[in-house]
Amino acid sequence: MLLPTVGRLNSGLPVSAPITLSQLSEQLEHLEAEAARSIEAAATAAELEELRVGLLGKKGRLSGVLGAMGKLSAEERPLVGQRANVLKEQVQSLLTARLDAVQEAAMAAKIASETLDVTATSSYVRPGHRHPLISTTEEIVDIFAGLGYEVSEGPEIETDYYNFTALNIPPHHPARDMQDTFYLEDGRLLRTHTSPVQIRYLESNPPPVRIVAPGRVYRRDAVDATHSPVFHQVEVLAIDEGLDFSHLRGTVMAFLKAFFGDLPVRFRASYFPFTEPSAEVDVQWRGRWLEVMGCGMVDPAVLEGLGLDPERWSGFAAGLGVERFCMVRHGIDDIRRLYTSDLRFLEQF
Ligand code: DAH
Repeated sequence: MLLPTVGRLNSGLPVSAPITLSQLSEQLEHLEAEAARSIEAAATAAELEELRVGLLGKKGRLSGVLGAMGKLSAEERPLVGQRANVLKEQVQSLLTARLDAVQEAAMAAKIASETLDVTATSSYVRPGHRHPLISTTEEIVDIFAGLGYEVSEGPEIETDYYNFTALNIPPHHPARDMQDTFYLEDGRLLRTHTSPVQIRYLESNPPPVRIVAPGRVYRRDAVDATHSPVFHQVEVLAIDEGLDFSHLRGTVMAFLKAFFGDLPVRFRASYFPFTEPSAEVDVQWRGRWLEVMGCGMVDPAVLEGLGLDPERWSGFAAGLGVERFCMVRHGIDDIRRLYTSDLRFLEQF
């Protein structure tokens, strides 16, 4: 059988092979059957476009057949031409129909894979917030940071030396009775206050110093509305040349005003082994005075123990009870509420 396509001879020039009407008709029939098969088998829009170009494009199969028409007689040509036009339209509509089907299937697959189940239960977790004791501590520290103080921290398990002796509380001093605590077998103890941080800091930082030291402390206290055996303090320490009681009072008053606003405050003379003179500060709470901090001028004996000359250096210190600041600020009636993790209580802050 003669091939209908354009062949090449050794000259390199394209030369058409001789052709008859029946051959051309046969080719058109073949083309029709083959086009129908391959269009039906195409699975994507891209494949269909490739088929369209291969069948109907300028250099496509149909053009090839029509190009060979010139070999026919003038009577035969229109027969083949008509036939070819019908075929062209058939192929065109097969392509369009298949493209519709392919796109519809792709959309259906996409929808199936992106199913949104509107009946699924929500996995939303409500964001929490800081515990009022933490936010109170942060607020206290922030105010002192604004006054130029740095933050320092110490361990909750302390030695007798830092917790007592270095703070001018030697063994058998009666002040130890008020600060009884839990002792470990090796002689260390759960710190009863944040004051040991004063010593630890001064050991490695020569004055002038200004620090605040927040942290948890432990004491053999009976629980009631204003006492807990575990509570929180913020220690304050300032050492410099020429500091006196007016600096202490001015700093404490500025701090209390920043924290409480215009709440009634009173200074009461007191005693601490590591300060001289010493005072306690009370604020009005539920119709009575509530002690919220101890303070005083650092005792020269403490400075001497650290190798600092008390003739040159002086300073003040204070220890605040965070729970009590929190209670006064928020009108909380019982310290125990702060430790029960009751969300009905905590969600109010
Ligand atoms: N550490 C004392 C206590 O827990 C409170 C205190 C009093 C701290 C006077 C100080 C201070 O720094 O100067 O009872």
